[in-house]
Amino acid sequence: MYRTHHCNELRKSDAGSTATLIGWVNTKRDHHGVIFIDIRDREGVTQCVFRPEESAEAAELSHSLRSEDVIQVTGKVDERPEIDGQSTVNDAIETGEIEIVASELKVLNKAEVLPFQLDKELSNEDLRMKHRYLDLRRPRMTTNLRARHAITKAIRDSLDEAGFLEIETPILSKSTPEGARDFLVPSRLNPGKFYALPQAPQQYKQLLMVAGVERYFQIARCFRDEDLRADRQPEFTQVDIEASFVEAEDIYSLVETLLASVFKAARGVDVPTPFERLDYRDAMDKYGSDKPERRIGMEIVDFTDTFASSGFKVFSGTIEKGGHVRAINAKGFAKVTTGQVKRLEETAKEAGAGGLAYIKVEGGEWKSPIVKFFTDEEKAALTERLGVEEGDLILFGCDQWRTVCEVLGRLRIEVAEMENLYEGHEDKLDFLWVVDFPLLDYDDEEGKWNAVHHPFTRPKTDDMDKLEDESKWGEIRAEAYDVVLNGNELGGGSLRIHEGDLQAKMFRVLGIDDEEQAANFGHILGAFSFGAPPHGGIALGLDRLVMLACKEDSIREVIAFPKNNRGVDLMSASPADVDFKQLRELYVKSTVEDKPKQQG
Ligand code: AMO
Ligand code: AMP
Repeated sequence: MYRTHHCNELRKSDAGSTATLIGWVNTKRDHHGVIFIDIRDREGVTQCVFRPEESAEAAELSHSLRSEDVIQVTGKVDERPEIDGQSTVNDAIETGEIEIVASELKVLNKAEVLPFQLDKELSNEDLRMKHRYLDLRRPRMTTNLRARHAITKAIRDSLDEAGFLEIETPILSKSTPEGARDFLVPSRLNPGKFYALPQAPQQYKQLLMVAGVERYFQIARCFRDEDLRADRQPEFTQVDIEASFVEAEDIYSLVETLLASVFKAARGVDVPTPFERLDYRDAMDKYGSDKPERRIGMEIVDFTDTFASSGFKVFSGTIEKGGHVRAINAKGFAKVTTGQVKRLEETAKEAGAGGLAYIKVEGGEWKSPIVKFFTDEEKAALTERLGVEEGDLILFGCDQWRTVCEVLGRLRIEVAEMENLYEGHEDKLDFLWVVDFPLLDYDDEEGKWNAVHHPFTRPKTDDMDKLEDESKWGEIRAEAYDVVLNGNELGGGSLRIHEGDLQAKMFRVLGIDDEEQAANFGHILGAFSFGAPPHGGIALGLDRLVMLACKEDSIREVIAFPKNNRGVDLMSASPADVDFKQLRELYVKSTVEDKPKQQG
């Protein structure tokens, strides 16, 4: 037997008994020849004292211990003594009332000096990732891994309760259009052919509905070759859900129950349901984003009417061309620095703005080169509708609808970060549904229509006839919904097309001709011809959910072995070169030049 107790188990009531603990040397202190070791395992730490009078041999050996050695300690559990009238109880740890007076010490394995200290936050992420197995020993990481387990379990329990079956779908599969690039796997048995790793189990779960499964879920690994960010990994996990004979309302209440159980399990809080709903258009108009962060205020206000015939031609000229002028009031941010203004300007330009007009309200004055063009009425309208006061900063957007929304949406978030407006709202959970997304979006560069969600999403019944008229395609609303938490897209889903002819029509709208349909989607069109039930579903990003539950700001903090933002696993050094022989067996030839291994 390795141990009698774990390292967070012994209490005052155990005093007098003998215990054996096993774990890592967390800290070591030497008090005039008496060695104090905090021994750590997954559960916590316990203090062990090595006194020569108790066991000379153990005390001697304890001198040689180093941080992270693996040890086994046996001894008597003692209440911590008073020394010179001072209590030695440590309130910071749960075992703080006791210590183990060691009579036996076994060193099970020695540790080299670690590349970094485990008790300090480390900003060098590369170093953390290179030694991720050490990084994961840190309490913050252990807590996150446990939360992920608890959340996954709560999800399984909640969906099981609701009658959902957990079913696995293939990883070696076929490309499905979810908007990213595929990861491809060459097939040795089928020369020149490739599997695609699933970007989502979208088609399989719909086929399970055709199969009569009715209620499916999967904790599904998904793969997307896209640019990586704090909330994106090339492989990530979805809580993937699909059900037959459901309306959007059924999905909303299912997911609300699910998320409430998750936050109960992870944080012990009660999430109020149902969640508020916001039209996609309202979300864009008010917050400039389809995943609105509402904790920071700063709603966008429209001033298109105010500036329609303004003397400031940048505004009136844009309005003449069908554009909009909108603004936000960054309260108390007239103190913005030149560097910050520069960053705000860059943000606006990245979001598509031609420039950034702004006004600082300082010393009773409106400071900006554009103010001289404004009439008193225009200023009064701004003051009234934005609640302008001394010390404020007004930021303008002036462009076509989508750009003006996106510019001000990005500025809101940037200002909130600069001003630290999240402070005091860390515990707030602002859940909402964004509904009534557009079905289609015209891509000017490609000169074609794309599905906003994916090609299997159902148009709203009321908008169905607009499919017949291309000039109306942009107006068609989809039976699609996103669930948003604190400005993060947690999940997205839709009711699906279940009729073969409608699906074929949708493919044609997306520029997929009959031949391509037959080649790539023949299976799904075929399936829809054999009595496909009405169905719909959703997928939640599990990594994002755990990240938010753990109050982390990157999903890398809640994934055991994540990739960095170059898609590299620094620990195992993947992706890596492979032998020419291996490639030859797969009928694959690299076009990368100067690869020495290719000669072999
Ligand atoms: P969607 O593409 O919106 O929908 O994805 C659903 C959710 O998955 C998460 N997610 C990611 N998380 C981490 N890294 C990524 N690269 C990444 N990409 C997406 C997000 C997102 O909301 N098949 C549809 C769902 C459906 O219609 O049922 C789909 O995949 O949290
Ligand atoms: P200009 O008349 O070009 O010197 O611009 C005057 C102010 O309007 C400057 O602060 C510009 O950054 C700003 N501005 C110019 N174009 C836009 C635009 N499309 N949207 C918002 N502000 C703009």
